[in-house]
Amino acid sequence: MDVQEVLKLADNMVFAKTGEHLDDLQEAILAGVWEGQKYSQIAETSYCSEGHVRNIASKLWKRLSNILGEEVTQSNLRSALERRQLFIISENSGNDFFIGNVNVCKDTKSPEVPKDRSPSKPTPETSKPQTRLDLADAPHISLLCDRTSELATLEKWIVQEKCNLAAISALSGNGKTALSLHLIPQIQHHFDCIIWRSLGTSPSLGTTLKNLIQFIANQPETELPVSIGDRLSRLMEYLRKNRCLIILDDVQTLLSSGQLAGNYRPDCENYSILFRQIGETTHNSCFILHTWENPREITALTGENSPVRTLQLKGIGTDAAEIFRHKNLLNPEKWENLINAYQGNPLWLKIVATTIQEIFRGRVADFLKYDMLFLGEELAAALYPQINRLSELEKKLISRLSREANSVSIEQLLQDADLSPSELFNGLQSLGRRSLVEIEEIENETLFNLCPVVRQYVLSNSVC
Ligand SMILES: Nc1ncnc2c1ncn2[C@@H]1O[C@H](COP(=O)(O)OP(=O)(O)OP(=O)(O)O)[C@@H](O)[C@H]1O
Ligand SMILES: [Mg+2]
Repeated sequence: MDVQEVLKLADNMVFAKTGEHLDDLQEAILAGVWEGQKYSQIAETSYCSEGHVRNIASKLWKRLSNILGEEVTQSNLRSALERRQLFIISENSGNDFFIGNVNVCKDTKSPEVPKDRSPSKPTPETSKPQTRLDLADAPHISLLCDRTSELATLEKWIVQEKCNLAAISALSGNGKTALSLHLIPQIQHHFDCIIWRSLGTSPSLGTTLKNLIQFIANQPETELPVSIGDRLSRLMEYLRKNRCLIILDDVQTLLSSGQLAGNYRPDCENYSILFRQIGETTHNSCFILHTWENPREITALTGENSPVRTLQLKGIGTDAAEIFRHKNLLNPEKWENLINAYQGNPLWLKIVATTIQEIFRGRVADFLKYDMLFLGEELAAALYPQINRLSELEKKLISRLSREANSVSIEQLLQDADLSPSELFNGLQSLGRRSLVEIEEIENETLFNLCPVVRQYVLSNSVC
């Protein structure tokens, strides 16, 4: 385990137990002690006194001792964590999860000692070899409101129905990453290994394959096949022999800007071979993809009875109130209006909650008096990359749709959108796949509507 993994693990354990993240000094202490530094050295690099470092460290060891169920000190930190093997093993049911054989309850009122277990019930440690985790690329786990049914759906697809690939598709900020982070402890004991990789920098397929094989097979780079074809065959062999869960974040970066949804960038075209093999062949493993839009073959392969599934993630409901409680907002009777206005997108809700806190000292009622959908720079910046990557045809279409406060039919759009029927169908389908257009069926007629926040963005920015 490297120091980043140690910090992430410790932070996850502490957050799950207390709802608080490690602060900078606690992280510096953990990292320093892990790397064999003395308190005086940590104090020097953290610009504080040695006494202060000792004091904070002593509280930190106490907290970790409570969580791990054994005494943790400066001298045994490494061995204590290694002895516990630093694995989070989820229990079969419920929201609690395990670190080593120690139960970490999300309920902060729960006792900090391990739960009593009946002697006849083997601990996850003894019943199954532990899952190997590589979550170095994953962000910190944080609050998750709602999403019980989405977690249950994913668990059913992945664990019970053993699907090959589950894509989670949604607008940025809707919580794809957060959802998978919470899914992992729930299902991880079904897997031999779990790997989380961000594709945010659009790595080549060769690099991604190398990366995955190295972790699964624990092989040095020198023993890896050189050609992409051989690497792919090697990976598939491992995925047949082992049960691996591979989570690929930010898959949309493999896809092209300026084209309809789902088309690859020229340099990433060969990922389609990987996704096809994962989706179409028989193996023991599962991929989870997080994406703003599905790559084209995932759309084609998705089906209720197919080994490839897609979860189009919607916003969260009234449980989003928890976000507002964390931000100390006032007027809870108005929170539902706010959630609806921002379509339950957790990122947008967090951004607007910060604005309300800063400008109205938390008074939601005062903010809503203005009867407008405020975006602000931060929210507009979050939307920009999603709108900017649209094809010219889609930009033209959202511009037309933004002029309508209500849903419109295809007939209405054809009358004045200056588009042929086939252009219109292509554009609407693509915008639907990107979750930018809502599609509803009213009295046997299909109607289309731009999401209100997107509409507001289009009205206040020149898109075409
Ligand atoms: N269900 C939720 N409850 C509370 N907060 C949430 C929830 N889902 C996501 N968040 C928070 O909202 C923000 C955006 O979530 P997240 O990063 O998971 O979105 P995303 O869909 O992965 O976005 P992107 O496509 O840009 O990667 C994060 O700060 C996350 O902690
Ligand atoms: Mg994400």
